[in-house]
Amino acid sequence: MASTELRKADFTTRQDPLPLFGDWLDEAGEAEPNDPNAAALATCGADGLPDVRMVLLKGFDARGFVFYTNFESRKGEELRENMQAAMCFHWKSLRRQVRLRGPVAQVSDAEADEYFASRARASRIGAWASKQSRPLESRFALEKEVAKYTAKFAVGDIPRPPHWSGFRIAPVYIEFWKDGAFRLHDRIVFQREPEEEVWTKTRLYP
Ligand SMILES: Cc1cc2nc3c(=O)[nH]c(=O)nc-3n(C[C@H](O)[C@H](O)[C@H](O)COP(=O)(O)O)c2cc1C
Repeated sequence: MASTELRKADFTTRQDPLPLFGDWLDEAGEAEPNDPNAAALATCGADGLPDVRMVLLKGFDARGFVFYTNFESRKGEELRENMQAAMCFHWKSLRRQVRLRGPVAQVSDAEADEYFASRARASRIGAWASKQSRPLESRFALEKEVAKYTAKFAVGDIPRPPHWSGFRIAPVYIEFWKDGAFRLHDRIVFQREPEEEVWTKTRLYP
């Protein structure tokens, strides 16, 4: 379906959340000025205090929704303590929201290697140089780390750092929200048991 037709179509009749998510992400790619794949990622470590920050979605399929990060970052620590997370996409230009939640697993080393290898050389060096979420004395200290790894990897491939990989959220809940007049929005939610394939769809009050 062309994107204008999709935009007019009634999404609440859709029966499968993944193709619907794919259509909305594609439309966001056309409508949003930046980062249509950006999502707020919520985690909650052992202290029970929720945390949230943006990440970029780097893939999704029947297995789940993947993002990449430093495993020694705050989010990495929180996920180690509690392998569950939620994501929320908000596409302002389209007035749409998608939220999902579920258990989290680490992606395979092969999958992470493949994605890491696709990144710009400077980004790969940055992954080595940044001790993400730990105190940094100065911008200069970061630049020294970048220079150190630039020299170290001056020749040949840059391997993926052992502390850098991807997480996959396997959603048990995916909700689609679309703005409606006078706050009478449309909401549908797809739910399933962990590791089940069949989704149950419910419409929710706005
Ligand atoms: C639009 C956007 C996309 C981002 N994407 C990522 C990402 O994919 N991975 C990542 O580690 N940090 C990403 N960040 C930075 C995170 O929001 C965050 O600052 C960083 O990961 C440290 O978070 P933590 O201390 O909770 O671990 C992104 C920030 C923005 C604003």
